[in-house]
Amino acid sequence: MKNGLEDVIAAETQLSDVDGEAGRLIIRGVSLDHLVANGTYEGVAALLLDGLMEKSFDEAELRDWLAQARTRIFGHIKAADAALLALPPVDAMRALIARLPDGEDFDTALSLLAAPAVFLPAILRKQRGKRPIAPDASLPQAADILRMLTGKLPTWEQTAALDTYLVTISDHGLNASTFASRVIASTQAGLTSSVLAAVSALKGPLHGGAPGPVLDMLDAIGTAENAYSWLGEALDRGERLMGFGHRIYRVRDPRADALKGALKPLISIGQVNGARGALAEAVEVAALAILKARKPNRPLDVNVEFYTALLLEALGFPREAFTGVFAIGRTVGWLAHAREQALDGRLIRPRSVYIGPLPAAA
Ligand code: SDX
Repeated sequence: MKNGLEDVIAAETQLSDVDGEAGRLIIRGVSLDHLVANGTYEGVAALLLDGLMEKSFDEAELRDWLAQARTRIFGHIKAADAALLALPPVDAMRALIARLPDGEDFDTALSLLAAPAVFLPAILRKQRGKRPIAPDASLPQAADILRMLTGKLPTWEQTAALDTYLVTISDHGLNASTFASRVIASTQAGLTSSVLAAVSALKGPLHGGAPGPVLDMLDAIGTAENAYSWLGEALDRGERLMGFGHRIYRVRDPRADALKGALKPLISIGQVNGARGALAEAVEVAALAILKARKPNRPLDVNVEFYTALLLEALGFPREAFTGVFAIGRTVGWLAHAREQALDGRLIRPRSVYIGPLPAAA
C-alpha cells in the first residue's frame, strides 16, 4: 500500500510531465519556459484541449468563443441569491459552477473555462458592495478578468503577469485536484461534475489553498530580521511552511522562478511593494536554510505558491480569492485530463487492505 499514492503511476497522459528530479515541467511537449515566453492563456488552453473535444479549433477561435461564453455565463450572476454570493469566494464560485449543465461536449467545456473567470470577480465585487461588471468580449481572458475585478482596463504589464500565472499553473500532472477530476470523469459523470470535484480538492491548504497563508506568514514575520526566529518557531510548533515543499519536486519548482520573473514588470511600474518583495526574498532564503538543517533527508524547496501570493496581491486580488484564481487557470488542465480519462473509458477503482475487526467466530 502506498500511503498518499506516493510514486504510484495511475495513468498514461499526453498532457504534461513533471520531472521532480530535474525540476522541469513540459506541457504537450512544450517546456514551461517556452510557454511562458511565448504563450497566452488561450494558447495553452487550445494546446491542452487539442484533439480531446468533438471539434478542433486554434487559439484565435478559442479566444473568440471563450469571450462569447463569458458574456453568456454572466447571466448566472444576476440569478444568484445573496446568501450564495456571501459564501467564501471559492465556495460561492463552486456553488455557481454546480448550476451549469453537465456534458462532455465542447460547449460545456467552454462554459466551464469561462465560469470561474466571470464568477470570481463578480463575487468579490458583490462582497464589497459593488456591482458586478459584465465581460468585454473584445478582450482576452486575462485582461477581461482584471477589468471585471477593478473596473479599469489593465496595463499590459498587469495582463502579462496574470497571463503568465494562468499559463504556469494550467496543468501539472496528477496533482490531487486533477486526479479528482479524472476519478469523476472515469465514472462518465460529465465535465461539470469533474470540475466541481477538482475545485473541492484544490481548496485544501496542502494543495491550492496555500497562497493566502503565504501572505499571512509574511505579515506575521513582518521584517527580514524576524525571519529565522519566526520560521524556526513555526517548525517547532510542527507547522508546515506554506509555499515550500512538494510531493514530486526534489529541487526548486520551475514555476517559482517563472512567477518571480512575472513580478518584475509589476515592480517596474510600482505595482509591487518593494519592501514586500525584499521580505519575501529574505524569508525564502531563511526558510530554505532552516528546512535544509531540519530535514536533511528531505529536500524542501520553494513551490509555485510562494511567489503566486505576491503576484496575485499585486494584481489586486484579496488573499481569500487566491485559490479561486488558481482554479481559473487550472480548469483547463482538469478538463483536458477528464476528457483523456473519459476517452480511455476505464473506471478508476483502486483496492484497499482491510485492517478492521473480523466477525466474531459463529
Ligand atoms: C501545490 O501536486 C502538485 O503538483 C500540487 C501543485 C499543483 O500544481 O497542483 O504543485 C500545487 O499543491 C503546491 C503545494 C502547496 N502547499 C503548500 O505549500 C503547503 C506546504 N507544503 C506541504 O504541506 C507539503 O510540502 C506538500 C503537501 C506540498 C507535500 O507533502 P508530502 O509530499 O506529502 O510530504 P510529506 O508530508 O511526506 O513531508 C515529508 C517531510 C515531513 O517531515 P517528517 O515528518 O518526515 O519529519 O517533509 C516535511 C514533513 O513534515 N515537510 C515540511 C513541508 N513540506 C514537507 N516541513 C515544513 N514545511 C513544509 N512546507
